Amino acid sequence: MERKKVIFDTDIGSDDAVALTALLLSDRFEVIGITATHGNQPVCNTTENALRLVSFLNKDIPVYKGCGQPMVRHLFKGRNANTIQETIRKEVDGEVIMIHEPILPLPETTRTFEDMHACSYLVDTLRNAKETINICAVGPLTNLGVALTMAPDIAEHIDTIYIMGGGLFKGNRTPIAEANFYDDPEAAEIVLNCGAHVVLNPLEGCESGAMYDANEIIKIAAIDNKVSHFIRNEISEFIAREKILFGDWVDSDCMYDYAAVAAMLDESMIVEMRNELAHVDCSGGMADGALICDRRGFDEIHSKVDIIYRMDTDRTHQLLLDLLKSYAEA
Ligand code: RIB
Ligand code: CA
Repeated sequence: MERKKVIFDTDIGSDDAVALTALLLSDRFEVIGITATHGNQPVCNTTENALRLVSFLNKDIPVYKGCGQPMVRHLFKGRNANTIQETIRKEVDGEVIMIHEPILPLPETTRTFEDMHACSYLVDTLRNAKETINICAVGPLTNLGVALTMAPDIAEHIDTIYIMGGGLFKGNRTPIAEANFYDDPEAAEIVLNCGAHVVLNPLEGCESGAMYDANEIIKIAAIDNKVSHFIRNEISEFIAREKILFGDWVDSDCMYDYAAVAAMLDESMIVEMRNELAHVDCSGGMADGALICDRRGFDEIHSKVDIIYRMDTDRTHQLLLDLLKSYAEA
C-alpha cells in the first residue's frame, strides 16, 4: 500500500506521545516532519520531547521548533480573566504538578532540531510538494495559523488536516472551550476555514473512543516491550497527576491526541461524522476559544469541515494494542 505523507504538529505531552508513538508504529502514513508548538509546555520542552521520542523509537524524522506563543491572544491583557479557568497547576510539598510533565521520561538524545523555523518548513514543504500532504495537528494551531497567514496558497497543497480540538457541547480549559482552541483561538479559526479539508476530532469524539482506565492499562502493560512500558507509564502517570489536580474521583482519562491519530490511521474507527460549518469564538469574552458548529440546518451545508461525533471504542483500544505488539526492537 502506498503511504500517504503527513506532517505531525504537536505540543507534545502525554497524550501527544501516545499519538505519535501509534503513528510511527503504523505503516499507513510516512511522517515527513514533526513541528513543535507551545501548549502543554513551552515550545523548548515540546521540541525536546519530540526529539527524545523519535530517538527512543529509532526513527530518523526531522523536528522543527515552532511558535512559542499564540498569534495574538497574549496581546489582549486580561483576556483570561473573562473566563472560568480549569486548575492546570498545583503546588504540592514545594513541587509544581501540571497535567503534562515538563520533559518526557525518556533517555536524553544528542539529536537536535533543524535550523529552519517550523512555519517556514510548513510553507516550503507544502509549496514544493509534488503530491498533496496531510497534516495532523494535536496542539494549539499557531504554527499552521502563521504558515497559512504567510502563504494562504499552501491550503491547495494539503490533502486533509486532522485536528484534535474544540468541544461539541463542553470545554475542558473553560466550561465551553477546549485547551488547544483556547490557547490560540485566532489560529484555530484561520485553520478551520483555510479552504483545505479538515477532519476535526473534538473532546466528545475522542472520549467516545480513547478513554483509558486501570483495565486498559493492564492490557497495555501485558504486551511487555519497551514501548508498551513507556505508554503504560505515560497513561497511568497522567491519571495520577489529574487525581492530584482534580480529586480522587479521577480513575480514567482520555488520550485525546491518540484518538485523532486513530481516526486518521483507520477511518472505519469513526462511527458518526457530520459535515458542519465550524468557527471559533475569538471575542475575548466568556466563550473565548469555544468551537461553534452550525447545526440549524437552514440550508444545505457545504462545509470543508467534517466533525467526528462518535468512534468505535473497542476498535480504537485494539488498534493501540496491535501497534504496540508490532514493535520490534531494531
Ligand atoms: O484538550 C486536549 C488537548 O489539549 C490535547 O491535545 C492535549 O495534549 C492538550 O494539548
Ligand atoms: Ca496535544
